[in-house]
Amino acid sequence: MKIAVCGKGGVGKTFIVGTLAAHFAASGRQVIAIDADSSPNLALNLGLSLEEASRILPVADNEDLIRIKTGTEHPGVFRLLFTVDDIISRYAVPTPSGANLLVMGTVKSMGSGCVCPAHSVIKALIRHLVVERNEIVILDMEAGIEHLGRGTAEHVDVLLAVADANLKSLEIASTICRLAQESEIRTIGLVANRVANSRQESLIRTYAGTHGLLLIGRIPFDERVADAGMSGELPDPSGSLAMKAIGDLADCLETMMQDTPRLSSGGVRI
Ligand SMILES: Nc1ncnc2c1ncn2[C@@H]1O[C@H](COP(=O)(O)OP(=O)(O)OP(=O)(O)O)[C@@H](O)[C@H]1O
Ligand SMILES: [Mg+2]
Repeated sequence: MKIAVCGKGGVGKTFIVGTLAAHFAASGRQVIAIDADSSPNLALNLGLSLEEASRILPVADNEDLIRIKTGTEHPGVFRLLFTVDDIISRYAVPTPSGANLLVMGTVKSMGSGCVCPAHSVIKALIRHLVVERNEIVILDMEAGIEHLGRGTAEHVDVLLAVADANLKSLEIASTICRLAQESEIRTIGLVANRVANSRQESLIRTYAGTHGLLLIGRIPFDERVADAGMSGELPDPSGSLAMKAIGDLADCLETMMQDTPRLSSGGVRI
């Protein structure tokens, strides 16, 4: 299963990707987590230190991958089909979470150009990656909607648009879901994060209902997660209600993917 996690800045995408990746890895899946944000920081949510993260060679600087991608007559087309094992053994970095990390790349100096080539490598990689049943590829996307214009994640099976109890983040999530409908993505859902009380939950449910969004997960506000974010550490999963809810979301995705031709609206599911 290939999953992309999108949404407005700061809504909790990286926390959710890191926790989903760790959950899938703990349940015995082969997991590749891709940091497709040009301000990368998924490494910390997978248990690496800042120092370890700084030593990762990003995809944008990986000459082997770039050569394979550009070695065809058609720009953006890989010559090979990749397997998850290929990526894990040749390009990804193992992390304490059990997931293997691939980092897209960033802007290195002022005026050094945009990150379009890096996005196009990720897009082609996702497209040409053959993912078996017990394998998960999960992308932590750039904040906002620009990546939809680039089509970076158009070849995933599941797109999760994350919002918190805030109208602006719900509006961006709604736009993301609408734009994603134009792709072949089979499951497109809204994930409500940092939900602090039943009133917020009910407002989000109403928003999802009136905008025809599939509410696929609800993650509570969790002080332990907020505190861990402050210290740069990972929260202890055993006491975290938010991490438990993300585990439930992972199980729900697995069930849905087993028998769903295309699911994106008309239902509210928590
Ligand atoms: N359910 C939650 N309860 C409490 N705090 C949370 C929760 N989810 C995320 N956070 C905190 O919110 C902050 C932002 O989370 P995160 O970095 O994952 O957001 P993001 O969407 O990836 O941001 P960006 O757009 O900058 O990449 C972090 O400090 C994180 O620990
Ligand atoms: Mg992030």
